[in-house]
Amino acid sequence: MARFGIIGGSGLCDYPGIDINEVRELETPYGFPSVALRLGHLNQHEVVFLPRHGDQHSIAPHRINYRANIHALQQLGVSHVLAVAAVGGITEQYGPGTLAVPDQIIDYTYGREQSFFSDDFSSDKHIDFTWPYDAGLRQAILTVGDQLNLNLVNHGTYGAVQGPRLETAAEISRMAKDGCHLVGMTGMPEAYLAREAGMAYASLAVVANWAAGITDEALTMAEIHQTLAAGIDNVRAVIAGVIGLR
Ligand code: HPA
Repeated sequence: MARFGIIGGSGLCDYPGIDINEVRELETPYGFPSVALRLGHLNQHEVVFLPRHGDQHSIAPHRINYRANIHALQQLGVSHVLAVAAVGGITEQYGPGTLAVPDQIIDYTYGREQSFFSDDFSSDKHIDFTWPYDAGLRQAILTVGDQLNLNLVNHGTYGAVQGPRLETAAEISRMAKDGCHLVGMTGMPEAYLAREAGMAYASLAVVANWAAGITDEALTMAEIHQTLAAGIDNVRAVIAGVIGLR
């Protein structure tokens, strides 16, 4: 039986739809997760909710303890992780307001703890990451998106950047040449750590803005927040649907 973890990103620091019955403070061998984890039910299904930036969105992307977050979910028996990610759109199909289910990653982050095995490595710990997202979980998201007529964009390469600043136009131009469709700050090492932990992981990416330099407009956080707020009901509907399928 699948047990779902939901990792909330910008625009999803709380989750009013979850009927929370326990708030669990956990310590892991890697330190503390972003918050005490919320255990509860979403439409009668058990879920664990973890906002990766903390309750108040006070933890910057490069400061998130990704290892502690994934380890804490694992301690609670989570087998499937639905990760919500706010992103910038780089190519035409991924305009603001789009919901996308990426299938590839290019990792531009640096200085983040990338592995649970850093201090105790052996050759069998080079783990396959050819397809970084779980195929079954991606398909479940797409199926629910179809049922809800949400026009989710299937596929896309997520470029994970360090942040917390937004990118320069030249960086986005390079990322486009590399084949990125989306840019975000938190997708890695989160996805890889989930793979190391043996969890199925997929991302539901909410395009909050055109990436830097794609339009002439300057990026404002007000606009980004507004787009995220407008998309969040659909995100919640997809999550509830996916959890209901299992
Ligand atoms: N760049 C990086 N991360 C983001 C963006 C962006 O334009 N929008 C939302 N998260």
